[in-house]
Amino acid sequence: MDIRSIKPDEFRAFASVWERTFNFDGKDEELELEAKVHEFDRSIVVVDDGDFVGTGGAFSFDLTVPGGSVPAAGLTAIAVLPTHRRRGVLTSMMRRHFADVQARKEPLALLRASESVIYGRFGYGIATHEASWEIAKRDATFELDPGTPGRVSLVGADRARRVLPDVYAEAARTSPGFLSRGEAIWNHMFSDLESWRGGFTANRFALYEENGTALGYLRYRAKETWEHNIPKNEILASELIALTPVAESALWHFVFSMDLVETIRTQNRPTQELLSVLLSDSRRLSGRRVDGLWARLMDVPAALSARRYRTEGRIVIEVDDRFLPEQGGRFVLEGGPDGAECKRTTDDADLVVDAAVLGSRYLGGGSFSLYQQAGRVLGSPEAVRLADTMFSWHVEPWCPHYF
Ligand SMILES: CC(C)(COP(=O)(O)OP(=O)(O)OC[C@H]1O[C@@H](n2cnc3c(N)ncnc32)[C@H](O)[C@@H]1OP(=O)(O)O)[C@@H](O)C(=O)NCCC(=O)NCCS
Repeated sequence: MDIRSIKPDEFRAFASVWERTFNFDGKDEELELEAKVHEFDRSIVVVDDGDFVGTGGAFSFDLTVPGGSVPAAGLTAIAVLPTHRRRGVLTSMMRRHFADVQARKEPLALLRASESVIYGRFGYGIATHEASWEIAKRDATFELDPGTPGRVSLVGADRARRVLPDVYAEAARTSPGFLSRGEAIWNHMFSDLESWRGGFTANRFALYEENGTALGYLRYRAKETWEHNIPKNEILASELIALTPVAESALWHFVFSMDLVETIRTQNRPTQELLSVLLSDSRRLSGRRVDGLWARLMDVPAALSARRYRTEGRIVIEVDDRFLPEQGGRFVLEGGPDGAECKRTTDDADLVVDAAVLGSRYLGGGSFSLYQQAGRVLGSPEAVRLADTMFSWHVEPWCPHYF
């Protein structure tokens, strides 16, 4: 089987592998939009006797990390035809992807996983978690209603297209787990095709502004339902990004102020949700927590030097990298809140971790101690405690972007 990238005129055949793998029929207008954000020079196709049987690609992102940002490759479009499963097609695409990431000197590789059993073997660990939740509006009362200095207004898609990217970019500056969104990605999002709506309205937008400055936004959809003259409308809060807690609180108050609504749901929220403490009866918020962004260090010294650490410390970490053994080895990390340096060393290791565990801890979430209890980290209790204190961060990592 051959492995190569594709040209733009091969995109239809490329996408037909996803259709047969993910069990959907792609509409022409959807595929046209996908082609506009697709980075063709990063596409991967596996060809068997002239037919496309495996696909992959990557987005070139900047990822916010504790105290900074790093270039990161977001793996996407991974699919292998049912006729070609478990013959190493994915494995060969991962090798090609990693070679490309290394050639571009991106210290991090990222993905979102369709199933959580696939990517640990390639050295990816769960770096962020996210929650979706649902609540009956009648069960939601706010503990306080202090009022706000600003106001919430509903704006049309044109104004939202101008304002949202700046609010998102400002939030991204200091929120580990945020991925940069370029023009092409925002245009894609604002295309808002009918087939993306699942019976809900087009996207609607609410802005929270103080003195003419937007400090937060809500993108949402609604669904109109009546049963025996009783209104049972639903609100789907797709994305709420706020720069201040006041802005976030104001936008939640707005969501719960809508009349005729029975149920409010969200798609992807941080696991530490401000709303849960704004409400008087948080138990009514029923939800589910799942893995979000997966991360893999492609260059341990570059990646560990690029972030900041919660406390000053020095630690020698041995990384067991089974898929890319040359990327593993022993590294000394000296760092703190103002900067960090990491380089290869021959010193004895304080901590031994597998590559996936290091990926899971990179953005500040998770716990080496928990992995130690599972036998996936070796080290003295003091070393594990120091590493956990250094790697943790004051903001829980969260990734609002899907790719
Ligand atoms: C997931 C998928 C891409 C794997 O492709 P593949 O070519 O069969 O994978 P490989 O043959 O290279 O498998 C490599 C290893 O991963 C394991 N593996 C792959 N997919 C797996 C899965 N879904 N569940 C459990 N193990 C899996 C294989 O058993 C193999 O293990 P081994 O090295 O111990 O033998 C393919 O099954 C697929 O297209 N699934 C549906 C679409 C999808 O989920 N895409 C991923 C989007 S994030």
